[in-house]
Amino acid sequence: MYEDRVNLNVLDQISFLFLHFLLFLIVSKFVKCKNTTSCWLLSSVGQDGENMTEEYTIERIGKYALNSPLDSGVFIDDSQGVLIDATLSDLQKGQLTPYVLEKAGPREKIFFNPEMTRAALVTCGGLCPGLNDVIRAIVMVLWYRYGIKEILGLRYGYEGLISSFRHEPLALTPELVEDIHKDGGTILGTSRGPQDPVLMVDFLSKRKINMLFTIGGDGTQRGALAINREIKKRGLAMSVIGIPKTIDNDISFTERTFGFETAVAMSQAPINGGHMEAKGVRNGIGIVKLMGRESGFIAAYATLASSDVNLVLIPEMRFSLEKVCSYLEERMSKKKHAVIVVAEGAGQEYVSQEGTDASGNKKLGDIGLFLKTVIIEYFKNRAIPVSIKYIDPSYIIRSAPATPDDSVFCFQLSENAVHAAMSGRTGMVVGIWNGHFVHIPMQISVKGRKQIDTSGLLWQSVLDNTGQPRKLA
Ligand code: F6P
Repeated sequence: MYEDRVNLNVLDQISFLFLHFLLFLIVSKFVKCKNTTSCWLLSSVGQDGENMTEEYTIERIGKYALNSPLDSGVFIDDSQGVLIDATLSDLQKGQLTPYVLEKAGPREKIFFNPEMTRAALVTCGGLCPGLNDVIRAIVMVLWYRYGIKEILGLRYGYEGLISSFRHEPLALTPELVEDIHKDGGTILGTSRGPQDPVLMVDFLSKRKINMLFTIGGDGTQRGALAINREIKKRGLAMSVIGIPKTIDNDISFTERTFGFETAVAMSQAPINGGHMEAKGVRNGIGIVKLMGRESGFIAAYATLASSDVNLVLIPEMRFSLEKVCSYLEERMSKKKHAVIVVAEGAGQEYVSQEGTDASGNKKLGDIGLFLKTVIIEYFKNRAIPVSIKYIDPSYIIRSAPATPDDSVFCFQLSENAVHAAMSGRTGMVVGIWNGHFVHIPMQISVKGRKQIDTSGLLWQSVLDNTGQPRKLA
């Protein structure tokens, strides 16, 4: 071995150093590592040459300095990451370093001194099962694990951060939140729509808040991003951590949002009702409309869970009314009944929409009632008697308390949100990816909506389960 070593003379040494300097320049072109975690990850370069992983780094207010009061034996080291693509595909495409999200969890060193820290929570947007679980868990972990005793519950969404609304915050204590997870809804109240980030940060500074937990969907996290920008502009040591919420499960970079599982569970009774009604008569058709504005995850999972559904229509697919009706006609002749699940955002090209709501979402036309009318007409024209029962469980699926599994998920999301805030992280949301809790930069979590890929395996399972044709357009 020793004989193989290159014996460098002075000139060799100079060229050796020069080559290393060149290499350093090339690498540092891609590595920008200031006040971010997982620096080694920043050296990966996207297929088109741009530095992709920089997008996944998490902002920090400052360095950790204090010892965590947790007696945890499982502190997470900042270098730990979770692969974004769990398959070999990226590596096979020739990408040198896989894209990685920062792993969530308690840190041994923290940024905020618990004795001098004030936290606040806000719930925004539509109701979602698990909101009270999240409020409770954040309060309990802050209070008992980190020793933070000043926790404010801001009322009625972002309105609660605007002084002119005069919504006085609730002082949250373990006694107050102890039983709230047994009920649906949110004890803090909620509202839709953005508010002025300058006024919201004025409110937070006046109340001496150091960390804000924003519990809401993509609109809420966009608002949180605006708050965070304003905080940075003012140079304040304030952390903003989001907990993504929506029954629709359509938030990017998190496999699951809390409330989704409960919404799927709550969809089972209406589907079962539709099935019983359809089977109870000759040529019975049950139509069940489920929530899902731009993504059909509730409809797809509720269908897979029930296994009684014969046709699912989701916003991600196009369908012709003629093909839907002739498929139903075939079902009537063979099976004498059918169950249809339609996501509320499906087939919007057929129904008129009426403007937008306070969050800027399109107000949807009623595709369920429209389908019912079309199907009645189709069978009437062919003189085939059918009996159609239309079921719209509407808000019932999202105002319920969380299922046990969703409650567990809410707790784990919340404790990880608290750990992230305590460590001085900001401008991020917590989520779950490839089975691990992760930190996701807010700007990438709100970039786009997660949707069902109709050429992917989930949709294949739906087709295998329902037996409906792949092509209905
Ligand atoms: O985003 C969640 C959701 O439940 C959607 O499925 C639904 O379209 C929407 O909220 C309805 O909310 P609201 O009636 O409160 O505007």
